[in-house]
Amino acid sequence: MSRNKEQHKTLINKTKTFVKQTLANAEGGHDWFHTLRVYHNALLISKTETVDILVVELAALLHDIADSKFHNGNDTIGPKMAREFLFQLNVDSKTIEHVVKIIENISFNKSLGNDTLFISEELKVVQDADRLDAIGAIGIARAFNYGGFKNRPLFNPEIKPILNMSKTEYKTSAAPTINHFYEKLLLLKDKMNTKTAKQIAKKRHAFMLHFLEQFYDEWDGLK
Ligand code: ADP
Ligand code: NI
Repeated sequence: MSRNKEQHKTLINKTKTFVKQTLANAEGGHDWFHTLRVYHNALLISKTETVDILVVELAALLHDIADSKFHNGNDTIGPKMAREFLFQLNVDSKTIEHVVKIIENISFNKSLGNDTLFISEELKVVQDADRLDAIGAIGIARAFNYGGFKNRPLFNPEIKPILNMSKTEYKTSAAPTINHFYEKLLLLKDKMNTKTAKQIAKKRHAFMLHFLEQFYDEWDGLK
């Protein structure tokens, strides 16, 4: 399918409307605003990468429409929904399959398993865009919102973080939210694929370290 600017715009707008509706009742850290930030991050990162911008935009918009965390661990619903949605809009099959592959492979827990990973320049951009939203001030807010959603403690000095978790351990962990910083969020800076994301991640990483320092300072109350 050859696409002109107008078609591209229409397709993106229809996708935005679909995702916004789908995520109407989503958890605060995985809602439409998260998706919109990832979309904006992906557009910015793409400026200095050689990518098929339609694939990047569609994958960014559709990446969290049915996160397995909120679907009893089922990680096939999101890709299936995305495929059906794009198919009924007559998107060419090559684009559809690429977008679906990105959605299937973007997740952090994928990299912990033994699965053969799909990789493409477009995936790298969307993955960085998603990871940037997991760190910094927004990252902190999202982590505690998710912890609250799961009724997890903020912190428990007796429960130590587990580094190098297996995929199953990661997915079933019920650890305090502070542990998530050591188990994932502080590791993301060094996992960024693109130069732009690496640069942005530095400042957000430093902000999280500062936050943790003050958190421990305040933890015992005033003495
Ligand atoms: P991905 O979406 O890449 O699979 P995750 O499933 O780890 O990544 O989660 C995405 C976001 O959800 C995290 O960045 C974090 O904000 C929140 N989250 C996931 N697991 C936890 C957890 N155990 N504790 C706190 N927040 C979490
Ligand atoms: Ni996401």
